[in-house]
Amino acid sequence: MKVEVYKSTDQNPNLTNYEETRDNFDWQEVEKHFSWHETGKFNMAYECIDKHVDDGYGDKTALHYKNGDSRSSYTFKDLKTASNKAANVLKDAGVEKGDRVFIFMARSPELYTSLLGALKIGAIVGPLFEAFMEKAVKDRLQNSEAKVIITSPELVGRIPVDDLPDLEKVILVGENVSADYVDFKTEYEKASDEFDIEWLDKEDGLILHYTSGSTGQPKGVLHVQYAMVQHYISGKYVLDLKEDDVYWCTADPGWVTGTSYGIFAPWLNRATNVVVGGRFSPEAWYGAIEDLNVTVWYSAPTAFRMLMGAGDEIVKKYDLSSLRHVLSVGEPLNPEVVKWGMDVYHLRIHDTWWMTETGAHMIVNFPSMDIKGGSMGKPIPGVEAAIIDDSGNELPVNRMGNLALKANWPSMMREIWKNKPKFDSYFIGEWYVSGDSAYQDEDGYFWFQGRVDDVIMTAGERVGPFEIESKLVEHEAVQEAGVIGKPDPVRGEIVKAFISLREGYSPSDELKEDIRVYVKEGLAAHAAPREIEFKDKLPKTRSGKIMRRVLKAWELNIDAGDLSSMDDD
Ligand code: PRX
Repeated sequence: MKVEVYKSTDQNPNLTNYEETRDNFDWQEVEKHFSWHETGKFNMAYECIDKHVDDGYGDKTALHYKNGDSRSSYTFKDLKTASNKAANVLKDAGVEKGDRVFIFMARSPELYTSLLGALKIGAIVGPLFEAFMEKAVKDRLQNSEAKVIITSPELVGRIPVDDLPDLEKVILVGENVSADYVDFKTEYEKASDEFDIEWLDKEDGLILHYTSGSTGQPKGVLHVQYAMVQHYISGKYVLDLKEDDVYWCTADPGWVTGTSYGIFAPWLNRATNVVVGGRFSPEAWYGAIEDLNVTVWYSAPTAFRMLMGAGDEIVKKYDLSSLRHVLSVGEPLNPEVVKWGMDVYHLRIHDTWWMTETGAHMIVNFPSMDIKGGSMGKPIPGVEAAIIDDSGNELPVNRMGNLALKANWPSMMREIWKNKPKFDSYFIGEWYVSGDSAYQDEDGYFWFQGRVDDVIMTAGERVGPFEIESKLVEHEAVQEAGVIGKPDPVRGEIVKAFISLREGYSPSDELKEDIRVYVKEGLAAHAAPREIEFKDKLPKTRSGKIMRRVLKAWELNIDAGDLSSMDDD
């Protein structure tokens, strides 16, 4: 496939040089940014909020919250007070350092202030997607022995309190709260706005994100306070956050992107952070950028594909001229989407690759780097990545293998909650093995191929499903595509594509043939799907990843395993 290269902008010579930064990089230098460097102690909530008040930025806007037509803004001083009050409410409810406190509610200012309040006590926060049903909530609270959960009247019915012996209090953010619960708003009104922050050690717990494996129980990925060193520096270099930026990360805090880059990185960098509640619609999203003058925007391929599907005309109805830097994460960013971004936003969309387990950016298109459409970019300064075989030997360029990282960066997970064997299974020698397959080209760029389990072997050829999916979405009729290997007695596997169509197209055999020929001519004969099935909707995680394992389970008529992360709207 021909690779398009998008040059790093000539108009902005002030961007931090990648090679120079990488070659001179030292994590210990970054640590000097934090109080911990002198005192040996710190606290994420202090570094995100109170510090800026102490430094004289108390009146700067820290948060714009927008939901439909309603809008509110908070300064750093406001958030300091609100999180102090929330911390007092939680402390009265019995929360102590190290306790697991879950937050289960729709994006609202209270979600953010109670999360910060829990951190001020030194509790470990477990954020949950509001769409979780009872079983998903139960699995996570049971596994982590959660002590307190903060929730809303709409969701409280999904907390199976009788099955949760460790859960001492349910805190409800609502009106007319019954005596079974702690009434957040009433307690908050009464609470003092002073709070003595718990000063923490580098390795004290911060956040517990549950992530689904391909089967079985979700795993609790624990990150510690020290991760802030990496949240801060990647926010500065990769998100390119500056004093005047208005930054919007579209992710929910139920997903690691929504905490590392929806809370920590922007506030550690003292940026103005934007939170948009409610559902996705192109109008709501473009409207938010226009109304709030968003300058830096971090979203995901699924959202960009939906915006692309909505057409180019709608873009023209909004003034998006405030935007200066756009990024993507979560699944491969199709070259077609990068091209479209150039056409309609006149900006390069910067892909970033990382995982819940890595806690922060690993491989990225650094702002000053030339972007090769379809590539994830190169390792951030301070991180070493390689392609290795199953025995841990590094592979030469252009060979597909396991994408692995030298396991010593600050935001690395510290444990899988109560599951040491699982934690240990990630490593081969000194390498953390991601479970993704990729290759590195002669210029050092990494190219994602698929989850190791998803790579297709057809007639002796290894094909990455992403490459085929990217070709498929270039076809004018295709909105989204998911590709799997279907067992075949002759070829080992054949390529099967599940496709949802764009507005105005309907399924037909002619269209199938047309799509097949399109891939064959545009990519390779062996990559052309032998089978195509049209679907109204593809199964996706709440973070927008197409769930190939569900497609595979449909195909093979087998159990798809844990589906708690699936978006089932
Ligand atoms: O397979 C890779 C894919 O998402 C996985 C990590 O999922 P999760 O922990 O939910 O992500 C947290 C947010 C980063 C990876 O193993 N993935 C993530 N980013 C990319 C990606 N695949 C391709 N390109 C990306 N930029």
